[in-house]
Amino acid sequence: MQNKTFSTLFIAQNLIQLSAVDSTNNYLKEMLSKSEPLAEGTVIMADDQFAGRGQFGNTWISAAGLNLTFSIYLRPSFLNLIAQFQLSIAVSIGVVNALNDYVAPGFKIKWPNDIYFQSSKIGGILIENTTSSGNLKSSIIGIGINVNQRKFDSSLTKKISSLGNILQRDVDLVDLLDKICHSIEVQYLRLKSGKADAQLSHYLENLYQYAEQCNYRSLGNTFQGQITGVTAEGKLLVSQDGELHSYGLKEIEFLDNN
Ligand code: BTN
Repeated sequence: MQNKTFSTLFIAQNLIQLSAVDSTNNYLKEMLSKSEPLAEGTVIMADDQFAGRGQFGNTWISAAGLNLTFSIYLRPSFLNLIAQFQLSIAVSIGVVNALNDYVAPGFKIKWPNDIYFQSSKIGGILIENTTSSGNLKSSIIGIGINVNQRKFDSSLTKKISSLGNILQRDVDLVDLLDKICHSIEVQYLRLKSGKADAQLSHYLENLYQYAEQCNYRSLGNTFQGQITGVTAEGKLLVSQDGELHSYGLKEIEFLDNN
């Protein structure tokens, strides 16, 4: 691995780079199940993640050696279980800020925490928490970003793209990992110091289709609506014909630009 000094205080100061693994989240979970303590901020990064996991039991497919697939170990014991969406907000704005600053402006968070550029998915986040006495205990933050892969399976229903396609050049994976980890660390420490409300505003400012009149589907019904916010539990708030409705995961489909 490259001997890079990371610009962070603790995230990725312990970086374990694997040539191949099924899933970096699984690997980290396995490490945590062993009795030895693990430093908070440990990052597992894989060159070839061959059985990556996505949200809702989906798979995360990533070409070997071309993209970022990594997992961060955090201990957000200051967060109550009912406020766990705040961690998702902090991580997603961390990722989007880094991409907007170091790649190009225009990255958005598609609710709840997909990373979009225009109408294409560029990255995804899978957060797996454990709890103790009503608070979060450990959190595995799995992040996949399409970086230097240019071609994607055209049979996929979603539009998928990469930083390489946006910039028309390759990006150094470890440099980008440093920028993203630094940006997530800034947001994580802000969350820890009680800035969740400001982070929610920032999240909404960067939310894909926020306040735009767009087409959605729920329970087989297609309708026009405007995203107006998210609830404390992370449900999506959509105004439809003057009424406000909230939707949980899998309860609403975005129709305009899948
Ligand atoms: C999604 O959009 O469905 C979330 C995708 C998360 C993928 C990342 S890649 C690194 C980490 N390890 C996994 O198995 N999944 C996450």
